[in-house]
Amino acid sequence: MLCNLGSIVTYASAAVAAFAGLAMAEIAPAVSYNNTLVYQRADPQVLKHTDGWYYFTGSVPAYDKVVLRRSQTIQGLSDAEEVTVWDRAKSTAGVGYVWAPELHWIGDKWYIYFALGRRSEFDIRMFVIEGEGENPLTAAWTEKPFIGTDYDTFSLDATTFEADGVRYLCWAQADPRYDNGAGTSLFLAKMDSPWTIVRPTTVVSRPALAWERIGHFVNEGAYVIQRNGRIFMTYSASATDHNYAVGLLTAPQGADLTDASVWTKAQQPVLKSNERTSQYGPGHNSFTLSEDGLSDLIVYHARQYKDIVGEPLYNPDRHARVQKLYWREDGTPDFGIPVPDGLTPVRLRAFGCGRSYLKHNENAAATLEGGVPVELTQFRIVEAGDNVRLEATSFPGRFLSVAEDASLRLVAEPGADADFVQAAGLADEAGVSFESAGRPGEFIHAESGVVVVKALASDKDNQGATFYTE
Ligand code: AHR
Repeated sequence: MLCNLGSIVTYASAAVAAFAGLAMAEIAPAVSYNNTLVYQRADPQVLKHTDGWYYFTGSVPAYDKVVLRRSQTIQGLSDAEEVTVWDRAKSTAGVGYVWAPELHWIGDKWYIYFALGRRSEFDIRMFVIEGEGENPLTAAWTEKPFIGTDYDTFSLDATTFEADGVRYLCWAQADPRYDNGAGTSLFLAKMDSPWTIVRPTTVVSRPALAWERIGHFVNEGAYVIQRNGRIFMTYSASATDHNYAVGLLTAPQGADLTDASVWTKAQQPVLKSNERTSQYGPGHNSFTLSEDGLSDLIVYHARQYKDIVGEPLYNPDRHARVQKLYWREDGTPDFGIPVPDGLTPVRLRAFGCGRSYLKHNENAAATLEGGVPVELTQFRIVEAGDNVRLEATSFPGRFLSVAEDASLRLVAEPGADADFVQAAGLADEAGVSFESAGRPGEFIHAESGVVVVKALASDKDNQGATFYTE
């Protein structure tokens, strides 16, 4: 088969790499989740702990408590029992909003970082509680002091991570030196305890780009994933309506992250609203690992409608969602688009062709290509009676269908030519092959960039008809 035989990281080494938190495999088997993951839980965090449990937390619409869930699977979080581990009504620490809790295991204790209004709703500062006990849902929680920083101003969305043996805290804070103290910039500092930081602190990002200044001048909701020799920090920007979007900062592994110059900022958002998939204001994400440890996942919130009446902050419909995070050949993350509700999509990588994928084209025949935006190579495999159909993720409601010239084109009203019988890969049972239900004996076949449905007459043909779901 005429393909560029790119390097395929084996699944075994991917598991080792993932466990070690080092370079994530370029290629890992598909994952399957059903969105929405958790309704009305904004700023979602899913933490895969060493005990094998997934822990979930997020902002509740009333902004008055900290809740936790846990499950052995990510999908199980959807209907897992939810426990209130801190209740503003039972504390004297603060009377205002409770925002964006994050659960972290540091040393031998649990810590939850969250924003809390000290003397009023918006007199917001970073607060920490410490939990003793293996299971944070039943731990004994004690309150720690508010986290002091260089300025006594509006500060929120604390996240902590360890990089090269150093523990850092990153948070959003109003900076009196910028925008006259309006909005928030991203600050970072080393930590000398789970509730204290080393000063002076560093500003690693300002809401300086146009897409960061719509409605509010905001950089907030940071979270870190470390892969491929780099530290990737996502954050969210603008007002929490459909303008909310995810940005990306990157620093080299091993750098002193309190040196602002080591951070490079993407000039465009890496995840933003998508009208076609009906996902608006995606943001305030976290990252976690799939159950097999082979795929990185991004967990974030979004609304399924664009127009909001009143202040977006008081709209409860920011729901928690999950989807796979892909990696480009240069080691950078490809966030794609916020996928539609329902079953998450897969990519179809051609047998023996490195990183070449079946790609849908809006008004042209499908092709086999590498190095293209991930969303153009994503398909939801939809059951259609005893058959399946391949629905284009970036064009929901449109399916690959066999045209008269045997090419595959997207159609909005699928018929028998869009029906396929999915079977084990003809050249490798670990893969999949798709036989046309309307043309028995003919299969989706990719070779040298060209994708057709055709009868197979050789082992080489079988290879061209074999794909791996990612
Ligand atoms: O969801 C409440 C707050 O809204 C979060 O702390 C912040 O990230 C967002 O602006």
